[in-house]
Amino acid sequence: MRVVVAGQGYVGLPLAVRAAQVGHSVVGFDVDEDRIKRLAAGESYVDDVPSARLREVLDAGAFHPSSDPRACAGFDVAVIAVPTPLRDGTPDLTYMEDSARTLARYLRPGATVALESTTYPGTTTELVGPLLEEGSGLIAGVDFALGYSPERIDPGNREWHLSTTPKVVSGVNAESLERVKAFYDTVVAQTVPVSDCKVAELAKLMENTFRHVNIALVNELAVFAHDLGIDVWEAIDAASSKPFGYMRFVPGPGVGGHCLPIDPSYLSWRVQRTLGQSFRFVELANDINNHMPDYVVRRLIAALNKQRKAVNGSTVLLLGLAYKKNTGDARESPARRVASLLLDMGAEVRAADPHVVEDGHVDQRVRRVALDQEQVARADAVVLLADHDAFDLDVVRDNARYVLDTRRRLTGPTVESL
Ligand SMILES: NC(=O)c1ccc[n+]([C@@H]2O[C@H](COP(=O)([O-])OP(=O)(O)OC[C@H]3O[C@@H](n4cnc5c(N)ncnc54)[C@H](O)[C@@H]3O)[C@@H](O)[C@H]2O)c1
Repeated sequence: MRVVVAGQGYVGLPLAVRAAQVGHSVVGFDVDEDRIKRLAAGESYVDDVPSARLREVLDAGAFHPSSDPRACAGFDVAVIAVPTPLRDGTPDLTYMEDSARTLARYLRPGATVALESTTYPGTTTELVGPLLEEGSGLIAGVDFALGYSPERIDPGNREWHLSTTPKVVSGVNAESLERVKAFYDTVVAQTVPVSDCKVAELAKLMENTFRHVNIALVNELAVFAHDLGIDVWEAIDAASSKPFGYMRFVPGPGVGGHCLPIDPSYLSWRVQRTLGQSFRFVELANDINNHMPDYVVRRLIAALNKQRKAVNGSTVLLLGLAYKKNTGDARESPARRVASLLLDMGAEVRAADPHVVEDGHVDQRVRRVALDQEQVARADAVVLLADHDAFDLDVVRDNARYVLDTRRRLTGPTVESL
Protein backbone atom coordinates (compact mmCIF):
# COMPACT_ATOMS: atom_id res chain seq x y z
CA MET A 1 0.00 0.00 0.00
CA ARG A 2 1.01 3.59 -0.48
CA VAL A 3 1.19 4.98 3.04
CA VAL A 4 1.64 8.53 4.28
CA VAL A 5 2.62 9.13 7.89
CA ALA A 6 2.08 12.80 8.76
CA GLY A 7 4.40 13.81 11.61
CA GLN A 8 7.83 12.20 11.85
CA GLY A 9 8.41 12.37 15.58
CA TYR A 10 8.62 9.80 18.37
CA VAL A 11 5.39 8.17 17.14
CA GLY A 12 5.35 8.78 13.39
CA LEU A 13 8.93 7.85 12.54
CA PRO A 14 8.93 4.35 14.10
CA LEU A 15 5.58 3.66 12.42
CA ALA A 16 6.76 4.90 9.02
CA VAL A 17 9.95 2.85 9.16
CA ARG A 18 8.10 -0.25 10.33
CA ALA A 19 5.50 0.13 7.55
CA ALA A 20 8.33 0.44 5.02
CA GLN A 21 10.04 -2.64 6.46
CA VAL A 22 6.94 -4.79 6.01
CA GLY A 23 6.62 -3.83 2.36
CA HIS A 24 4.56 -0.66 2.07
CA SER A 25 5.72 2.33 0.07
CA VAL A 26 5.88 5.03 2.73
CA VAL A 27 6.06 8.80 2.63
CA GLY A 28 7.18 10.30 5.93
CA PHE A 29 5.68 13.77 5.76
CA ASP A 30 6.72 16.51 8.19
CA VAL A 31 6.54 20.29 8.12
CA ASP A 32 9.92 20.49 9.87
CA GLU A 33 12.40 20.76 6.99
CA ASP A 34 15.40 20.21 9.20
CA ARG A 35 14.03 16.88 10.44
CA ILE A 36 13.27 15.80 6.87
CA LYS A 37 16.81 16.68 5.78
CA ARG A 38 18.23 14.58 8.58
CA LEU A 39 15.98 11.65 7.71
CA ALA A 40 16.90 11.89 4.03
CA ALA A 41 20.56 11.78 5.07
CA GLY A 42 19.87 8.58 7.02
CA GLU A 43 20.21 10.24 10.42
CA SER A 44 17.62 9.23 13.01
CA TYR A 45 16.78 11.54 15.91
CA VAL A 46 14.47 9.04 17.64
CA ASP A 47 16.15 6.56 20.02
CA ASP A 48 13.86 3.69 19.04
CA VAL A 49 14.83 3.94 15.36
CA PRO A 50 18.53 3.17 14.81
CA SER A 51 20.00 5.10 11.87
CA ALA A 52 21.08 1.79 10.32
CA ARG A 53 17.45 0.67 10.13
CA LEU A 54 16.44 4.01 8.67
CA ARG A 55 19.13 3.72 5.99
CA GLU A 56 17.95 0.21 5.10
CA VAL A 57 14.46 1.39 4.18
CA LEU A 58 15.84 4.48 2.45
CA ASP A 59 18.24 2.38 0.38
CA ALA A 60 15.46 -0.07 -0.45
CA GLY A 61 13.44 2.86 -1.84
CA ALA A 62 10.59 2.02 0.55
CA PHE A 63 10.74 5.20 2.63
CA HIS A 64 10.53 8.74 1.30
CA PRO A 65 10.86 11.58 3.83
CA SER A 66 9.34 14.81 2.52
CA SER A 67 8.27 18.26 3.64
CA ASP A 68 6.41 18.86 0.40
CA PRO A 69 2.66 18.27 0.86
CA ARG A 70 2.42 17.13 -2.76
CA ALA A 71 4.33 14.00 -1.76
CA CYS A 72 1.14 12.94 0.05
CA ALA A 73 -0.74 12.53 -3.24
CA GLY A 74 -2.12 9.12 -4.07
CA PHE A 75 -2.11 7.54 -0.61
CA ASP A 76 -4.07 4.41 0.24
CA VAL A 77 -3.54 4.89 3.96
CA ALA A 78 -2.64 8.08 5.84
CA VAL A 79 -1.79 8.19 9.52
CA ILE A 80 -1.81 11.42 11.51
CA ALA A 81 0.86 11.47 14.25
CA VAL A 82 1.34 15.18 14.93
CA PRO A 83 1.68 16.89 18.33
CA THR A 84 -1.29 17.57 20.58
CA PRO A 85 0.11 19.89 23.25
CA LEU A 86 -1.65 21.96 25.87
CA ARG A 87 -1.70 25.72 25.58
CA ASP A 88 -2.59 27.44 28.85
CA GLY A 89 -4.23 24.23 30.05
CA THR A 90 -6.35 23.89 26.90
CA PRO A 91 -5.89 21.27 24.16
CA ASP A 92 -4.11 22.72 21.16
CA LEU A 93 -5.42 20.84 18.15
CA THR A 94 -4.06 23.20 15.52
CA TYR A 95 -1.36 20.76 14.34
CA MET A 96 -3.97 18.08 13.90
CA GLU A 97 -6.31 20.44 12.07
CA ASP A 98 -3.53 21.54 9.71
CA SER A 99 -2.59 17.94 9.05
CA ALA A 100 -6.20 16.93 8.32
CA ARG A 101 -6.58 19.88 5.93
CA THR A 102 -3.40 18.90 4.07
CA LEU A 103 -4.43 15.26 3.74
CA ALA A 104 -7.96 16.21 2.67
CA ARG A 105 -6.50 17.75 -0.48
CA TYR A 106 -5.11 14.36 -1.51
CA LEU A 107 -7.88 12.13 -0.19
CA ARG A 108 -9.32 9.78 -2.82
CA PRO A 109 -12.33 7.44 -2.70
CA GLY A 110 -11.32 4.11 -1.18
CA ALA A 111 -8.50 5.54 0.94
CA THR A 112 -8.14 5.16 4.73
CA VAL A 113 -7.19 7.78 7.31
CA ALA A 114 -6.19 6.83 10.85
CA LEU A 115 -5.54 9.28 13.65
CA GLU A 116 -2.87 8.31 16.21
CA SER A 117 -2.28 11.56 18.09
CA THR A 118 -3.49 11.40 21.68
CA THR A 119 -6.60 13.50 22.13
CA TYR A 120 -9.94 13.80 23.95
CA PRO A 121 -12.82 11.46 23.08
CA GLY A 122 -14.80 12.75 20.12
CA THR A 123 -11.91 14.29 18.15
CA THR A 124 -11.92 11.77 15.29
CA THR A 125 -15.61 12.07 14.50
CA GLU A 126 -16.22 15.69 15.52
CA LEU A 127 -13.07 17.39 14.27
CA VAL A 128 -10.88 15.31 11.96
CA GLY A 129 -13.76 13.69 10.02
CA PRO A 130 -15.49 16.98 9.16
CA LEU A 131 -12.19 18.61 8.11
CA LEU A 132 -11.38 15.69 5.81
CA GLU A 133 -14.90 15.78 4.35
CA GLU A 134 -14.83 19.53 3.85
CA GLY A 135 -11.49 19.50 2.06
CA SER A 136 -12.20 16.49 -0.13
CA GLY A 137 -15.92 16.58 -0.81
CA LEU A 138 -16.00 12.91 0.25
CA ILE A 139 -17.94 11.32 3.09
CA ALA A 140 -16.26 9.53 6.02
CA GLY A 141 -17.35 5.91 6.38
CA VAL A 142 -18.87 5.99 2.88
CA ASP A 143 -16.23 7.22 0.42
CA PHE A 144 -13.22 6.79 2.65
CA ALA A 145 -12.46 4.89 5.85
CA LEU A 146 -11.69 6.80 9.03
CA GLY A 147 -10.59 5.56 12.41
CA TYR A 148 -8.55 6.11 15.53
CA SER A 149 -5.69 3.96 16.77
CA PRO A 150 -3.75 5.23 19.78
CA GLU A 151 0.00 4.83 19.99
CA ARG A 152 1.41 2.95 22.97
CA ILE A 153 5.05 3.62 22.34
CA ASP A 154 7.23 3.33 25.45
CA PRO A 155 10.52 4.96 24.49
CA GLY A 156 13.53 2.82 25.31
CA ASN A 157 11.50 -0.33 26.07
CA ARG A 158 13.19 -3.16 24.18
CA GLU A 159 10.60 -5.82 24.91
CA TRP A 160 7.41 -3.92 24.18
CA HIS A 161 7.82 -1.84 21.08
CA LEU A 162 5.60 -0.88 18.18
CA SER A 163 5.36 -4.29 16.54
CA THR A 164 5.06 -6.39 19.73
CA THR A 165 2.57 -4.24 21.65
CA PRO A 166 -1.13 -4.93 21.00
CA LYS A 167 -2.73 -1.95 19.26
CA VAL A 168 -6.29 -0.74 19.81
CA VAL A 169 -8.06 0.04 16.53
CA SER A 170 -11.42 1.66 15.80
CA GLY A 171 -13.44 3.06 12.92
CA VAL A 172 -16.35 5.43 12.36
CA ASN A 173 -18.32 2.41 11.10
CA ALA A 174 -17.79 -1.33 10.62
CA GLU A 175 -16.17 -0.99 7.21
CA SER A 176 -13.80 1.71 8.43
CA LEU A 177 -12.82 -0.47 11.38
CA GLU A 178 -12.12 -3.37 9.05
CA ARG A 179 -9.87 -1.25 6.85
CA VAL A 180 -8.02 0.43 9.71
CA LYS A 181 -7.51 -2.98 11.31
CA ALA A 182 -6.31 -4.47 8.01
CA PHE A 183 -3.58 -1.85 7.75
CA TYR A 184 -2.38 -2.19 11.33
CA ASP A 185 -2.44 -5.99 11.08
CA THR A 186 0.41 -5.59 8.61
CA VAL A 187 2.60 -3.64 11.05
CA VAL A 188 1.84 -5.00 14.55
CA ALA A 189 1.50 -8.52 15.93
CA GLN A 190 -1.94 -7.99 17.44
CA THR A 191 -4.75 -5.50 16.96
CA VAL A 192 -7.54 -5.00 19.47
CA PRO A 193 -10.69 -3.81 17.71
CA VAL A 194 -13.24 -1.71 19.61
CA SER A 195 -16.69 -0.65 18.49
CA ASP A 196 -16.33 3.13 18.54
CA CYS A 197 -13.60 5.73 18.00
CA LYS A 198 -14.51 7.37 21.32
CA VAL A 199 -13.81 4.08 23.13
CA ALA A 200 -10.34 3.95 21.58
CA GLU A 201 -9.72 7.61 22.40
CA LEU A 202 -10.82 7.09 25.99
CA ALA A 203 -8.80 3.87 26.35
CA LYS A 204 -5.59 5.77 25.57
CA LEU A 205 -6.37 8.51 28.06
CA MET A 206 -7.31 5.92 30.70
CA GLU A 207 -3.95 4.20 30.30
CA ASN A 208 -2.04 7.41 30.81
CA THR A 209 -4.29 8.72 33.57
CA PHE A 210 -3.85 5.41 35.41
CA ARG A 211 -0.08 5.84 35.39
CA HIS A 212 -0.29 9.52 36.27
CA VAL A 213 -2.52 8.92 39.29
CA ASN A 214 -0.52 5.98 40.61
CA ILE A 215 2.77 7.83 40.25
CA ALA A 216 1.20 10.74 42.15
CA LEU A 217 0.15 8.34 44.89
CA VAL A 218 3.68 7.04 45.49
CA ASN A 219 5.16 10.51 45.10
CA GLU A 220 2.93 11.87 47.85
CA LEU A 221 3.70 8.83 49.97
CA ALA A 222 7.44 9.38 49.45
CA VAL A 223 7.16 12.92 50.80
CA PHE A 224 5.22 11.85 53.90
CA ALA A 225 7.33 8.73 54.50
CA HIS A 226 10.52 10.82 54.51
CA ASP A 227 9.04 13.15 57.11
CA LEU A 228 7.90 10.16 59.16
CA GLY A 229 11.36 8.60 58.93
CA ILE A 230 10.15 5.52 57.02
CA ASP A 231 11.92 4.06 54.00
CA VAL A 232 9.20 4.29 51.32
CA TRP A 233 11.27 2.30 48.81
CA GLU A 234 11.52 -0.66 51.11
CA ALA A 235 7.79 -0.41 51.81
CA ILE A 236 7.10 -0.40 48.07
CA ASP A 237 9.29 -3.48 47.59
CA ALA A 238 7.46 -5.21 50.42
CA ALA A 239 4.02 -4.32 48.99
CA SER A 240 5.15 -5.51 45.56
CA SER A 241 5.61 -9.01 46.92
CA LYS A 242 1.82 -9.34 46.88
CA PRO A 243 1.12 -11.41 43.79
CA PHE A 244 -2.36 -9.98 43.14
CA GLY A 245 -4.22 -6.70 43.50
CA TYR A 246 -1.13 -4.50 43.59
CA MET A 247 0.91 -2.91 40.84
CA ARG A 248 4.33 -1.47 41.50
CA PHE A 249 4.91 2.24 40.90
CA VAL A 250 7.90 4.15 42.22
CA PRO A 251 8.44 7.79 43.20
CA GLY A 252 10.53 10.14 41.11
CA PRO A 253 11.39 13.79 40.57
CA GLY A 254 8.14 14.41 38.65
CA VAL A 255 6.61 13.35 35.36
CA GLY A 256 7.68 14.42 31.89
CA GLY A 257 7.58 13.68 28.19
CA HIS A 258 4.69 14.18 25.86
CA CYS A 259 2.19 11.94 27.68
CA LEU A 260 1.72 12.13 31.43
CA PRO A 261 2.00 15.88 31.95
CA ILE A 262 -0.46 16.48 29.11
CA ASP A 263 -2.83 13.65 28.21
CA PRO A 264 -4.81 13.40 31.48
CA SER A 265 -5.55 17.11 31.14
CA TYR A 266 -7.15 16.43 27.74
CA LEU A 267 -9.58 14.17 29.56
CA SER A 268 -10.27 16.57 32.41
CA TRP A 269 -10.71 19.41 29.91
CA ARG A 270 -13.31 17.37 28.03
CA VAL A 271 -15.14 16.40 31.24
CA GLN A 272 -15.19 20.02 32.40
CA ARG A 273 -16.20 21.34 29.01
CA THR A 274 -18.94 18.81 28.32
CA LEU A 275 -20.23 17.94 31.79
CA GLY A 276 -19.24 21.04 33.75
CA GLN A 277 -17.49 18.88 36.35
CA SER A 278 -13.89 18.63 37.39
CA PHE A 279 -12.02 15.34 37.09
CA ARG A 280 -10.65 15.47 40.62
CA PHE A 281 -8.25 12.56 40.35
CA VAL A 282 -6.48 14.20 37.41
CA GLU A 283 -6.36 17.62 39.09
CA LEU A 284 -4.91 16.11 42.25
CA ALA A 285 -2.34 14.02 40.37
CA ASN A 286 -1.29 17.08 38.34
CA ASP A 287 -0.87 19.07 41.52
CA ILE A 288 1.26 16.43 43.27
CA ASN A 289 3.40 15.48 40.27
CA ASN A 290 3.95 19.10 39.24
CA HIS A 291 5.31 19.88 42.69
CA MET A 292 7.86 17.07 42.79
CA PRO A 293 10.69 19.13 41.24
CA ASP A 294 10.09 21.77 43.94
CA TYR A 295 10.29 19.01 46.54
CA VAL A 296 13.60 17.79 45.08
CA VAL A 297 14.97 21.32 45.41
CA ARG A 298 13.61 21.58 48.95
CA ARG A 299 15.48 18.40 49.90
CA LEU A 300 18.61 19.74 48.28
CA ILE A 301 18.37 23.01 50.19
CA ALA A 302 18.05 21.04 53.45
CA ALA A 303 21.03 18.85 52.59
CA LEU A 304 23.25 21.83 51.71
CA ASN A 305 22.08 23.58 54.85
CA LYS A 306 23.34 20.64 56.93
CA GLN A 307 26.75 21.25 55.37
CA ARG A 308 26.41 24.98 56.25
CA LYS A 309 26.10 25.84 52.59
CA ALA A 310 23.65 27.95 50.66
CA VAL A 311 22.31 27.09 47.22
CA ASN A 312 23.65 30.45 46.09
CA GLY A 313 27.22 29.81 44.98
CA SER A 314 27.02 26.02 45.25
CA THR A 315 27.76 23.79 42.29
CA VAL A 316 25.06 21.24 41.60
CA LEU A 317 25.56 18.41 39.14
CA LEU A 318 22.33 17.04 37.65
CA LEU A 319 22.51 13.54 36.22
CA GLY A 320 19.88 13.06 33.54
CA LEU A 321 18.00 15.82 31.76
CA ALA A 322 15.62 13.42 30.00
CA TYR A 323 12.34 12.66 31.73
CA LYS A 324 12.99 8.96 31.47
CA LYS A 325 15.81 6.45 31.73
CA ASN A 326 17.71 5.69 28.50
CA THR A 327 15.81 8.21 26.38
CA GLY A 328 16.85 11.57 24.97
CA ASP A 329 13.45 13.23 25.42
CA ALA A 330 13.68 16.32 27.60
CA ARG A 331 10.21 17.65 26.81
CA GLU A 332 8.36 18.67 29.98
CA SER A 333 11.18 17.00 31.90
CA PRO A 334 11.21 17.63 35.67
CA ALA A 335 14.97 18.19 35.34
CA ARG A 336 14.21 21.46 33.55
CA ARG A 337 12.27 22.81 36.51
CA VAL A 338 14.86 21.56 39.01
CA ALA A 339 17.57 23.29 36.97
CA SER A 340 15.76 26.59 36.62
CA LEU A 341 14.81 26.75 40.31
CA LEU A 342 18.45 26.17 41.29
CA LEU A 343 19.75 28.65 38.73
CA ASP A 344 17.31 31.29 39.94
CA MET A 345 18.63 30.79 43.46
CA GLY A 346 22.20 31.40 42.28
CA ALA A 347 23.54 27.85 41.97
CA GLU A 348 25.96 26.89 39.26
CA VAL A 349 24.14 24.07 37.53
CA ARG A 350 25.97 21.48 35.50
CA ALA A 351 24.26 18.56 33.84
CA ALA A 352 25.31 15.29 32.29
CA ASP A 353 23.06 13.46 29.87
CA PRO A 354 24.55 11.56 26.95
CA HIS A 355 21.12 11.00 25.41
CA VAL A 356 19.75 14.52 25.25
CA VAL A 357 21.10 16.05 22.07
CA GLU A 358 18.37 18.53 21.13
CA ASP A 359 19.09 21.33 23.59
CA GLY A 360 16.01 23.44 22.91
CA HIS A 361 14.18 22.16 25.98
CA VAL A 362 16.95 22.84 28.46
CA ASP A 363 17.82 26.20 30.06
CA GLN A 364 20.83 27.62 28.24
CA ARG A 365 22.43 28.60 31.56
CA VAL A 366 22.93 24.91 32.37
CA ARG A 367 26.48 23.88 31.62
CA ARG A 368 26.59 20.52 29.87
CA VAL A 369 29.38 18.23 31.06
CA ALA A 370 30.30 14.56 30.90
CA LEU A 371 29.88 12.43 34.00
CA ASP A 372 33.40 11.83 35.29
CA GLN A 373 35.32 11.76 38.53
CA GLU A 374 36.36 15.40 38.33
CA GLN A 375 32.83 16.74 37.75
CA VAL A 376 31.42 14.62 40.55
CA ALA A 377 34.17 15.58 43.01
CA ARG A 378 33.89 19.31 42.37
CA ALA A 379 30.09 19.41 42.87
CA ASP A 380 28.68 20.38 46.25
CA ALA A 381 25.73 18.14 45.48
CA VAL A 382 24.84 15.60 42.82
CA VAL A 383 21.21 14.87 41.94
CA LEU A 384 20.40 11.65 40.11
CA LEU A 385 17.27 12.45 38.08
CA ALA A 386 17.31 9.89 35.23
CA ASP A 387 19.21 6.68 35.88
CA HIS A 388 20.52 6.05 32.38
CA ASP A 389 22.40 2.77 31.95
CA ALA A 390 25.23 4.81 30.42
CA PHE A 391 25.98 6.46 33.78
CA ASP A 392 28.82 4.98 35.79
CA LEU A 393 27.17 5.17 39.20
CA ASP A 394 30.24 3.81 40.98
CA VAL A 395 32.03 7.04 40.06
CA VAL A 396 29.18 8.96 41.66
CA ARG A 397 29.06 6.90 44.84
CA ASP A 398 32.85 6.92 45.30
CA ASN A 399 33.50 10.62 44.64
CA ALA A 400 30.43 12.66 45.55
CA ARG A 401 30.26 14.78 48.67
CA TYR A 402 26.48 14.45 48.71
CA VAL A 403 24.00 12.68 46.40
CA LEU A 404 20.24 13.07 46.27
CA ASP A 405 19.12 9.93 44.47
CA THR A 406 15.57 10.28 43.13
CA ARG A 407 15.66 6.77 41.61
CA ARG A 408 17.04 4.69 44.50
CA ARG A 409 19.99 3.35 42.57
CA LEU A 410 22.68 4.18 45.11
CA THR A 411 23.39 3.56 48.75
CA GLY A 412 26.20 4.82 50.95
CA PRO A 413 27.02 7.35 53.66
CA THR A 414 26.83 10.33 51.30
CA VAL A 415 23.62 9.22 49.57
CA GLU A 416 20.03 10.17 50.39
CA SER A 417 17.05 8.70 48.54
CA LEU A 418 13.99 10.69 47.61
N1 LIG B 1 6.10 10.28 22.41
C1 LIG B 1 5.36 9.32 22.92
O1 LIG B 1 5.88 8.48 23.66
C2 LIG B 1 3.88 9.18 22.58
C3 LIG B 1 3.23 7.98 22.93
C4 LIG B 1 1.90 7.83 22.61
C5 LIG B 1 1.23 8.87 21.96
N2 LIG B 1 1.85 10.01 21.63
C6 LIG B 1 1.09 11.05 20.92
O2 LIG B 1 1.43 11.04 19.54
C7 LIG B 1 1.38 12.37 19.00
C8 LIG B 1 2.71 12.74 18.40
O3 LIG B 1 3.68 12.75 19.43
P1 LIG B 1 5.23 12.70 19.16
O4 LIG B 1 5.84 12.39 20.48
O5 LIG B 1 5.53 11.82 18.00
O6 LIG B 1 5.49 14.24 18.75
P2 LIG B 1 6.82 14.85 18.08
O7 LIG B 1 6.82 16.30 18.45
O8 LIG B 1 7.99 14.00 18.39
O9 LIG B 1 6.56 14.72 16.52
C9 LIG B 1 5.52 15.32 15.86
C10 LIG B 1 6.00 15.78 14.50
O10 LIG B 1 4.88 16.30 13.80
C11 LIG B 1 5.34 17.38 12.98
N3 LIG B 1 4.21 18.17 12.55
C12 LIG B 1 3.60 19.18 13.16
N4 LIG B 1 2.57 19.65 12.42
C13 LIG B 1 2.53 18.90 11.29
C14 LIG B 1 1.71 18.88 10.14
N5 LIG B 1 0.68 19.73 10.03
N6 LIG B 1 1.97 17.98 9.18
C15 LIG B 1 3.01 17.13 9.30
N7 LIG B 1 3.83 17.09 10.37
C16 LIG B 1 3.59 17.96 11.36
C17 LIG B 1 6.36 18.07 13.84
O11 LIG B 1 7.24 18.85 13.05
C18 LIG B 1 7.05 16.89 14.54
O12 LIG B 1 8.20 16.47 13.83
C19 LIG B 1 0.94 13.24 20.16
O13 LIG B 1 -0.45 13.38 20.13
C20 LIG B 1 1.35 12.44 21.37
O14 LIG B 1 0.56 12.76 22.50
C21 LIG B 1 3.19 10.19 21.92
